Amino acid sequence: MSVSSSRSAPSRILRIGVVGFGNFAQFLAKTMIRQGHVLRATSRTDYSELCAHLGILFFRDADRFLEAENDVVLICTSILSLPEVFQSMPLHRLKRPTLFVDVLSVKEYPRNVLLQVLPEEFDVLCTHPMFGPESGKNGWKDLTFMYDRVRIRDETICSSFIQIFESEGCRMLEMSCEEHDKEAARSQFVTHTIGRILSEMEIQSTSINTEGFEALVQLKENTVKDSFDLFSGLFVHNRFAQQELENLELAFKKVKQKLLEKMNEEKD
Ligand SMILES: NC(=O)c1ccc[n+]([C@@H]2O[C@H](COP(=O)([O-])OP(=O)(O)OC[C@H]3O[C@@H](n4cnc5c(N)ncnc54)[C@H](OP(=O)(O)O)[C@@H]3O)[C@@H](O)[C@H]2O)c1
Repeated sequence: MSVSSSRSAPSRILRIGVVGFGNFAQFLAKTMIRQGHVLRATSRTDYSELCAHLGILFFRDADRFLEAENDVVLICTSILSLPEVFQSMPLHRLKRPTLFVDVLSVKEYPRNVLLQVLPEEFDVLCTHPMFGPESGKNGWKDLTFMYDRVRIRDETICSSFIQIFESEGCRMLEMSCEEHDKEAARSQFVTHTIGRILSEMEIQSTSINTEGFEALVQLKENTVKDSFDLFSGLFVHNRFAQQELENLELAFKKVKQKLLEKMNEEKD
């Protein structure tokens, strides 16, 4: 694992083809466009109007999207839909070796899929911006950008892509996909799970909120803004998540047990 905040990589204007133009892709696209990169997009839903507004060429047709000479194909689809998305992608339409980058919130799974479906001469960069439309709404400075150069030959394109995040002041963190998934199961997955539990409990702000409770209400609200597909993908496609769910359950039982024991002691 290595952390850096600046790297002297050559920056160049990239033609970035975004696959999956949902919530997170739209958020990333705004900064990429502001930096001068040329974006194209394709998605299951028709985003022609939104894209026209943002100055992005939108392709309904996957063939034409892939023929559009992208330097980078950026995969922003949900974790669960990744195989389906690749099945419907006519990769033979690509005119030359291209850098594929993904931003999925789990990392071993897309790395394995990309290595399996892409021809050997295509580069693969797996990334996870550890922020979203809410936490990154006032800029990306000091927010973490995790990446793993899984298979890189064209350093210029790869460095220019990484530079998008570096130049916004992100905390750049190079780590393996495996290490990411271990840590994310213990941190992000647990956070989302607790947020979902609080949402099931329908917790609401009260007139006597403590700061701690205020933080829980905020956590609940932020968690449910993400789709259930995203949350379940964190579990289904991170092999370390199941253990963390069991740890959480066990911890809950232990705390409950301690409270009941105390109650019984008091009664005696
Ligand atoms: N939200 C965040 O803060 C955040 C942060 C870091 C990384 N990420 C990652 O970024 C990716 C996108 O996240 P998100 O927040 O936008 O929400 P998401 O629910 O995880 O993904 C929505 C995207 O997936 C596409 N999609 C879903 N089901 C599909 C299917 N069956 N076939 C084809 N496309 C399908 C949607 O396409 P349509 O819009 O065309 O329906 C949309 O582009 C995810 O992999 C997520 O893990 C998200």
